[in-house]
Amino acid sequence: MWWLLVNWWETVSYFSIPFEFVMVGSKIGFDLYVNSSTHDVREHFVRIFPAGQVLTVSDLTIFRQKYYQLYVSETQRDSYLASLSSNTNLTETKKTEVIKESAIKYLSTLFDAKKQFTTELLHDTISGCRESIESMVHVIKGKDISDVQKLIGDLSFHDFYTYDHSINVAMYSMALFQAAKGNASKSEIVTAGLGGLLHDLGKLKISTKIINNPDKLTDQDFSIIKKHPSYGKELFQQNGIVMSGIDLSIIERIIYEHHENFNGTGYPNQIVGENIHLMARVTAIADFFDAITTKRSYHEVLSTEDALAIMANSASKKIDPELFTLFTSRVKNLVLNGKNHFCVKDDFDPCQPHRVLPVEKVPPNKQEHKLFEKENNFGSVKSDIDQNKKKAA
Ligand SMILES: [Fe+2]
Ligand SMILES: [Fe+2]
Repeated sequence: MWWLLVNWWETVSYFSIPFEFVMVGSKIGFDLYVNSSTHDVREHFVRIFPAGQVLTVSDLTIFRQKYYQLYVSETQRDSYLASLSSNTNLTETKKTEVIKESAIKYLSTLFDAKKQFTTELLHDTISGCRESIESMVHVIKGKDISDVQKLIGDLSFHDFYTYDHSINVAMYSMALFQAAKGNASKSEIVTAGLGGLLHDLGKLKISTKIINNPDKLTDQDFSIIKKHPSYGKELFQQNGIVMSGIDLSIIERIIYEHHENFNGTGYPNQIVGENIHLMARVTAIADFFDAITTKRSYHEVLSTEDALAIMANSASKKIDPELFTLFTSRVKNLVLNGKNHFCVKDDFDPCQPHRVLPVEKVPPNKQEHKLFEKENNFGSVKSDIDQNKKKAA
């Protein structure tokens, strides 16, 4: 849907929007344009409706009859995204699709190897991603993990693994973080989402041949992959970006610590347990779950039950057991007959695509996380983890 058209004599660019994405009966927060040129190479955009005015049904009917396509200026993309949350005519899938496309637009600009990396580019990407995540907050609010999973399943996917994966991780991270911290502020949920979206930022310094390779990596390639948390942190530090209302130091920690394992066997610094930032532990679970459940063209996909059974064998090792229990409690209608005797190795990297998921069998008596004894609790709603801790104390 985002056919970005650049007006060749102006620096402003425009993107197309479907007619049904404009809400009638209330003030719209962005100007509407049409392309008045018949020459593809000489687009000329003319404003046909101003921001701040109320668009009527008859206005929209006339626009549909007269014009082929409506456009919005890139400078007003934030207002357009914000308007989606209140548009009752759109399904959640449609809204999320638009938000996702917008996030991909920014991520792809950053990952475009032909563009030179600059502080301005990083700043613009983070601000653009922030707009997308702020719109996403309304979609994710109050949703269980199963709802988010269903939504993700309904979205179309891109052929570059990192984009889809990053957006999915952002969505799961927001859902899990809001469950973990019942009184989380919008800014904290946005931070969790932005961290999920940018967690693999450092991969832009690594060849796409390596990061998109679904086959088993050589030791040398894997050692390169393992540098991406440090690369991501360096990009933040070198560019010294400041953004009002968002604590970028937390996003930096998510980027740097999302491959640390709960038992201290991760990378790059082998940090243990709660020394790993809460949001990085949240991201690690979102990262793991998405990697083994999201349908890709080149790998088998696990059922939710099998995925959680496999993850249960990594609780206390790769992932935070308490957060994982909370995560499973947010999955509806779970029937546990899955691969409870299977696990992944501690060095399993959810950020890599896999042609074959590297699961292996473990004896039942080696299972450390008793996921299957909690069957009766699945589907119940748990309150804030910290509050539960206080109650237990
Ligand atoms: Fe990663
Ligand atoms: Fe990842």
